[in-house]
This record gives sequence, structure tokens and C-alpha cells, in this order.
Amino acid sequence: MSSSTSGSSGLQMSTSSTVLSLAEKQKYIEDYDFPYCDESSKYEKVAKIGQGTFGEVFKAREKKSNKKFVAMKKVLMDNEKEGFPITALREIRILQLLKHENVVNLIEICRTKATANNRYRSTFYLVFDFCEHDLAGLLSNINVKFSLGEIKKVMQQLLNGLYYIHSNKILHRDMKAANVLITKNGVLKLADFGLARAFSITKNGQANRYTNRVVTLWYRPPELLLGDRNYGPPVDMWGAGCIMAEMWTRSPIMQGATEQQQLIFISQLCGSFTPDVWPGVESLELYQKMELPMGHKRKVRDRLRPYVKDSHGVDLLDKLLILDPKERTDADSALNHDFFWTDPMPCDLSKMLSQHTQSMFEYLTPPRRACQMRQYQQQMVNTMQPRPQDNSYQDRVY
Ligand SMILES: Nc1ncnc2c1ncn2[C@@H]1O[C@H](COP(=O)(O)OP(=O)(O)OP(=O)(O)O)[C@@H](O)[C@H]1O
Ligand SMILES: [Mg+2]
Repeated sequence: MSSSTSGSSGLQMSTSSTVLSLAEKQKYIEDYDFPYCDESSKYEKVAKIGQGTFGEVFKAREKKSNKKFVAMKKVLMDNEKEGFPITALREIRILQLLKHENVVNLIEICRTKATANNRYRSTFYLVFDFCEHDLAGLLSNINVKFSLGEIKKVMQQLLNGLYYIHSNKILHRDMKAANVLITKNGVLKLADFGLARAFSITKNGQANRYTNRVVTLWYRPPELLLGDRNYGPPVDMWGAGCIMAEMWTRSPIMQGATEQQQLIFISQLCGSFTPDVWPGVESLELYQKMELPMGHKRKVRDRLRPYVKDSHGVDLLDKLLILDPKERTDADSALNHDFFWTDPMPCDLSKMLSQHTQSMFEYLTPPRRACQMRQYQQQMVNTMQPRPQDNSYQDRVY
């Protein structure tokens, strides 16, 4: 066999007479110019803005322009032996497919140079257009006040984003205020597709068997809590309902500590889970296994009216927080709801946001103390009284 390999790669590694020494291999890796995957050194990190389950997120400046800001999400290499994590690949594939005004824009994937210092293992980053705030950060700041028209604008953009992703057969599966970004110009972007997946309408009556342990507990819909694995877009609509209520209550409306407690909070607000209001609920896997309080009346309207006041707003919330996923309103119908087509009409957020020059992110807001949380949670569930206003929320400078 000839010592030179065929083909045009120019890489001659495995033939007997031209085996590269370790040093040569390392030099080869160091010098290799990866196409489509620039070095992360083209950006300069400015601040850490997020610490998710799956890694850190940084604000960074593009060195070339010196003005353009990006968000860099580090890919957590949890099991290096298995190569590039499949979860990150899925997130990238989905983000590459989704291009919409109300979905965060993935610019590129970057890598650190492989050197002896990192044992020739690059770190990879997902690079996004930078958004100045996330909704959890904005809602934690008592100085940020949304008018009714502004709340409508937030919800309209959020539903537009959901309409778009659901039309493209993608489920987000992690709707929560921290995953909703807002630019300083008031444009909302759905973010964090780390748990997203494609869905299909079941063919020839065969049920899907998607993983059930998705969505942050406080935003998790009743069908997931009851073990459903054949779910669809309504799981995101429930989250949209929780976020919409939070626009007025300023804190998540049902903060269960366990799945069992979350189910109890849901039935206290939305009424007991019975086959009357939700035909088929009795055949969900966990229906018999969980403690499901009976005899609770639905109180969504009564509990939320003192906060929301606007009758169309209360009506839309009532339709988003429907127990039966088949009955829950979808993004298209929600966008056609009178809430968005009556005075005050949805109005631009940029003027209000221009009063807040510092970025607000969930990560940068002080953690709520446990006792405060418990107190507030009790209030939310029992009386839905406004949270006591203290000074624990401040603008953060970085
Ligand atoms: N493009 C962006 N612009 C500004 N901030 C961002 C951007 N992307 C993410 N962030 C911030 O970083 C946080 C974490 O990002 P993301 O939700 O994508 O990561 P994650 O690791 O999946 O987080 P988690 O597991 O907590 O949901 C977001 O809540 C947001 O505050
Ligand atoms: Mg997130």
C-alpha cells in the first residue's frame, strides 16, 4: 500500500510510514482552520448574565466593530467521551430552522482554540444577538411599570413567537419569564431552546412517547404533571398563561415545591381535575397515583380579576389556563382575542424601557429569601394579594 492517502484532504495520519507523532497531531489541531466555526476570541466577554442548568451565558462585545454586543452561551461538555452533546446539537438545529422577529437570533457557533492548556479540547459557544433584558428581571424590578397597552404588546409578541414555532412543528417546552428576552427597543424574543423538540401529529392513532420531565415546575401544565407523553403545543400555551398572569402579579402565580404540591395549587386555582371538565384525564398514567383534591371550584376569574381588572384580559387568562389541553386556547385564537383588539391597543415598549438604562436579568436580581417566598406563595394561593413592596429589588449595574 502506498504511504500517501488518496483524496484531497492532505491529511496523512494513519498509514504506516507517515503516522503523525503526538506533537505533530497537536500542532495540526492547533493550526487547523475550522470553516464555519470562528474562534471565540473575536468577542470580548463583558459580564456574566446567566447561569442556567446547562451552562453559563455571557454578554460580550464584538472586537471588530467594538459596538455590537452578543450573548454567548457556553456548551456544557458533560460527557466529553461521547463528543459534542446531542442536546446542544438539537438546540442548534432548531435555532437554525427558526428565523423570526420574536425568536432569539443565533448568529453562529464559536470555539476556543484547542491548545495544550485546554488539553486540546475546545469550548464551544452559541452566539446570539444580545437582548438587554429578560422578562423575569424586568418583573422583579418594582421601578419597571407596564401599562395595560404595554402588557398587551408583550403578550402579543410572545403569542406571535409561539404561533410561529408551533406552525413550524416545534415545541418550546420551557416557557418561563426568564426565557423571554426583551430588547431595549421593546422587541420580545423567545429564547432557550435547550429543551425544545419537533413534534408530529400522531399518525394512524399511535400515541407519541415524548419525555415527560420537561418545563420548569411552576410553569408545568397539568397534563405533564399527570404523566402525559403524547402532548403538544398546549404545553407552551399553559406557560404563556402563567407568564401573562405574572405581568400583573409580578411573581410566578403557582410556586409548588414538588410535583404533588404543584398539582394541588393548580386545582385550587383552576378547579378539581374531573372527567367532567377534562374527558380522558382519568386514563393519564399518574391520575390514580397523585393526590388530587376533589370538590374545588374553578376560581381563575375571581382570583385574577383584582390584579388584572381588564375584563378581556381576565377572559384570555381563563382560556389559557384551561385544564384540558384539548380545550386550552391555541396561539392563533389567542392572538384574535378581543384583548388585543380593544382600547387601549398594544403599544410600543421602547419609551418605557428607555427610562431603564441598566440591563435586567433574572440572574442579576437578588434571590428571594425562602421565608419571603413562602409568605408570598401562601398569599398567592389563598388570597392573591399584591406582594408586599420592600426594597429588595434594585437595578443592577455591571
Ligand atoms: N441573547 C441573549 N441576550 C441576553 N441575555 C440572554 C440571551 N440569551 C440568554 N440570556 C440570558 O441568560 C439566561 C440563561 O440563558 P438560557 O435560558 O438560554 O440558558 P439555560 O442554560 O438553558 O438556562 P436555564 O436552564 O436556566 O433555563 C437567560 O435567562 C437570559 O437572562
Ligand atoms: Mg433558560
